[in-house]
Amino acid sequence: MQERTILGIDVGASGIKGAVVDIETGQLLNDRIRLDTPDSATPDAMAETFAELVRQHNWRGLIGCGFPSIIKKGVAYSAANISEEWIGTNVVEIFSLACGCPVEVLNDADAAGMAEMQFGLGKGEMGTVVLITIGSGLGSALFIDGKLVPNTEFGHFFLKNQKQVAEKYASSNARKREDLSWEEWGIRFNEYLQNLERVINPDLILLGGGASKRFDKYDSYITVRTPVKPAELLNNAGTVGAAIHAHQRWRK
Ligand code: BGC
Repeated sequence: MQERTILGIDVGASGIKGAVVDIETGQLLNDRIRLDTPDSATPDAMAETFAELVRQHNWRGLIGCGFPSIIKKGVAYSAANISEEWIGTNVVEIFSLACGCPVEVLNDADAAGMAEMQFGLGKGEMGTVVLITIGSGLGSALFIDGKLVPNTEFGHFFLKNQKQVAEKYASSNARKREDLSWEEWGIRFNEYLQNLERVINPDLILLGGGASKRFDKYDSYITVRTPVKPAELLNNAGTVGAAIHAHQRWRK
């Protein structure tokens, strides 16, 4: 199967977003539809929302899906911001049964990274590029000479002197939950990037997710030597990348 248009769905801890993607240009072919992720974030509840989103698109065909978990051969191996009932379940089976269409799944940050590497600032970048998505959690996508190293979880580092994983300290949720100013949060996020830099020494750090749109608010607190840039595709990256991934899998 080699369709040029694929429904991309970005499943997140707070919203499930979908749009039909032209995988050759990375353009969305309709207005993105967003439904709230059910509070319980269980497999049953989320599968229902997923199927509803597919119905609203009136879609029959291949679907690419980004999902906020480690994904290996379709199975979820973690659940940091969704129900732990997901752990060990086959996400591909759950979503394809719910909507009646073939579904391919990968980690949501990996999806965003794939889109940014193909159509955004990562295009043609060699060396080590890491994309950090800043949202409910901190997601990561690592590329070596343009090739994805899947399922990195750089949001789960323990920071020096912190008794919690990085994403509980430096994500958008942490900023909102603790009512931090951009300065307070920017200093925390910089501390996070310093740790990341120390461990993987990337050549370029790209920022995605909601807070990447507000880069001007915290840019001045970032002191790492690696260039740090907000991603170009911003909110659509996860949707576009999920579609690209599904297309690559079905081409094989
Ligand atoms: C999860 C990652 C995910 C990120 C962004 C983290 O809590 O562990 O797998 O990519 O959130 O959704």
